[in-house]
Amino acid sequence: MASDATTDTTKRDFLYVATGAMGAVGTAVAVWPLIDQMNPDASTLALSTIEVSLSSIVEGESVTVMWRGQPIFIRYRTADDIAQSKAVPMEELKDPASDAERVTEGQEQWLVQIGICTHLGCVPTGQKSGSAKGDFGGWFCPCHGSHYDTAGRIRKGPAPLNLVLPDYNFLSDTLIKIG
Ligand code: FES
Repeated sequence: MASDATTDTTKRDFLYVATGAMGAVGTAVAVWPLIDQMNPDASTLALSTIEVSLSSIVEGESVTVMWRGQPIFIRYRTADDIAQSKAVPMEELKDPASDAERVTEGQEQWLVQIGICTHLGCVPTGQKSGSAKGDFGGWFCPCHGSHYDTAGRIRKGPAPLNLVLPDYNFLSDTLIKIG
């Protein structure tokens, strides 16, 4: 059972990320729900698919958007982030996946993943400038100490799996559709 301190940390982190997500939607990123007028249940579709413009995100920056009630972490990875990830021997990985398997071919600078720790579901830190990115430069889950690398792969701590990748595709170099 989590201690009060841990619970407080978790709540604070969630509020922090939720606030960041709202800011990202309002300023850095434009999100447009897609509404299919032909579908009688347009409200369901609006929640199921979003488009996110990447054009205002600068290299090295991360933004969070909400999709189906979950935080989606988008990071514009630096060349160093990518090189670090590619240099990791597969045998060192708890949930083996190459860097190429985590991104879209030709768009390897963009990492898009569901920002929920695969241990017990906390929201990791590492999105905001200055927030803890863990020992491998990616994300850190303070709940029980899981560290993810610059490809979102679990590298240390109790989480069993890499951060999950949502279904998404590039509509252009600067626009993705999630869902
Ligand atoms: S929820 Fe336990 S380490 Fe993330």
